[in-house]
Amino acid sequence: MITKDKVLNVLEENINEYVSGEDLASKLNLSRTAIWKAIKTLKGRGYKIESITSRGYRLKDSSDVLSEDKIKNLIKANLNVVVMDSVDSTNTYAKRIGEESYEPTLIVANSQTRGKGRMGRFFYSPKGSGVYFTLLLKPKIDISQSVLLTTLAAVSVACEVEKMLGKEVKIKWVNDLLIDNKKFCGILTEGSISIENSELNYAVIGIGINVYSPAKGFPKDISNIATSLLGSSNISYDFKNKLVANVVNNFMQTYSNIEKSPHLNAYKQRSIAIGKIVNVIKLDKEENAKVLDLGDDFSLIVEYEDGSIENLKNGEIRIKI
Ligand code: BTN
Repeated sequence: MITKDKVLNVLEENINEYVSGEDLASKLNLSRTAIWKAIKTLKGRGYKIESITSRGYRLKDSSDVLSEDKIKNLIKANLNVVVMDSVDSTNTYAKRIGEESYEPTLIVANSQTRGKGRMGRFFYSPKGSGVYFTLLLKPKIDISQSVLLTTLAAVSVACEVEKMLGKEVKIKWVNDLLIDNKKFCGILTEGSISIENSELNYAVIGIGINVYSPAKGFPKDISNIATSLLGSSNISYDFKNKLVANVVNNFMQTYSNIEKSPHLNAYKQRSIAIGKIVNVIKLDKEENAKVLDLGDDFSLIVEYEDGSIENLKNGEIRIKI
């Protein structure tokens, strides 16, 4: 283990307490200068460490730093893990690996400069607020079943957020996750298709979660509809690493059986649209409809005002509250 990790371990064992430089040095059999350097590196990585000459160093439990090592240790599946401070888009990055030298990979970032949302929209991904991650996989499903990936990701995030925070999570078909009617997570699944056999060459499942309120607040166009999991709370040691790993573990556990839709009930139970009047948004028009049910293929079964019924396989709805 390298020096900075050894120092971090001792500070973690004594979280929120001061540990003197002398104690650290003798416990780890290192010089005081080596300790000082390690502390400097850890601070540079974002760990909140207070130093007081007479008392030593104190790691604050408000430190929430993405760490490749920690995520790797927590993940059960055999995946490459890449953690970056900033990237254009974790989905775009994953697609580059998919094209060049595919290996099952998890890409995680602190911020994205070109975060992508559905329908060609921009996904707000500022540093210090959320966590943005993408799974690159080769699912053995037909392209017509790719909704299974988005819906499984939605269920995995919902279940793990509920476990970690005890909050009720709702799913707005097909890819938005809500707490108290506000969106905290969006999912974008993309892929490359083999035209010969209509199979997926690879798929990228991108998940963006607002963890903290952005320093400058959410931009005006989303401030009424967006929320974050922890707001401005600062007691969240390692929250992002655990959240990403828990979601990925949950996803990978069900993924091997994905073609059987084992997550259908969990999705349906959390679906906010069933029984509601919604606006169905299509390329050229918007129409009111009542949501009757969710089909076994995750299609939304809606009844329009003229009595006609449609099974929506994709698209977007706006819920009228
Ligand atoms: C949406 O709400 O429209 C979908 C948003 C998906 C955002 C995630 S963040 C990680 C991954 N990388 C991207 O560029 N987009 C997805």
